[in-house]
Amino acid sequence: MILPDGAYTLGGVKIAIVFASKNGTTCKAAKRMASLLAEHEVDLINLGEVKKPRLDQYQAIALGTAIYAGKPLKMMKALVKRQEVALQKARLGLFVCGMMKENDKRASELADAFPESLHASAVAEAFLGGEFNLDQLTAIEKLVISRIAGEATRASTIDDNAIEVFAKQLVGA
Ligand SMILES: Cc1cc2nc3c(=O)[nH]c(=O)nc-3n(C[C@H](O)[C@H](O)[C@H](O)COP(=O)(O)O)c2cc1C
Repeated sequence: MILPDGAYTLGGVKIAIVFASKNGTTCKAAKRMASLLAEHEVDLINLGEVKKPRLDQYQAIALGTAIYAGKPLKMMKALVKRQEVALQKARLGLFVCGMMKENDKRASELADAFPESLHASAVAEAFLGGEFNLDQLTAIEKLVISRIAGEATRASTIDDNAIEVFAKQLVGA
């Protein structure tokens, strides 16, 4: 059901934040987003745990995935493939988490993460930054990430301001 923009600010909107996370950062960003939307009914859906969520009950859906080697996680691609039509019916937001610094590369990672049909209907889109969980990475992965982030591998780039803007756009506030 698609309501006029303003209606979402009146409360009672059922929202799903559906995320794909390998090392926990996208989960962290999704939880921060959920806390900003606490006046609504929000379900956090981790695709690592719930493979086939039922999404037809939500008026607004945020989809978020981590980016590895320039690509979204497979579980997000699989969800989108299965539910592309249902997703187009909801008020939709698309976000990615990654450590790419350059704006043009961030934009193309976000663009490539979801199909054109979903970008066309999305009311919010954002690159929310990320973190490297160094303890969980292999030696090869550490080599790869030094190319992405240079020396800045320890700093979190999770963008709280971008999360807030995204959450507001998602509910039309
Ligand atoms: C091996 C490896 C490859 C990565 N490749 C990219 C990349 O191509 N682009 C990007 O923006 N971030 C990249 N990242 C950074 C991750 O997207 C970032 O660590 C993100 O916060 C991970 O989210 P997660 O903890 O939810 O899995 C990479 C990280 C690792 C470890």
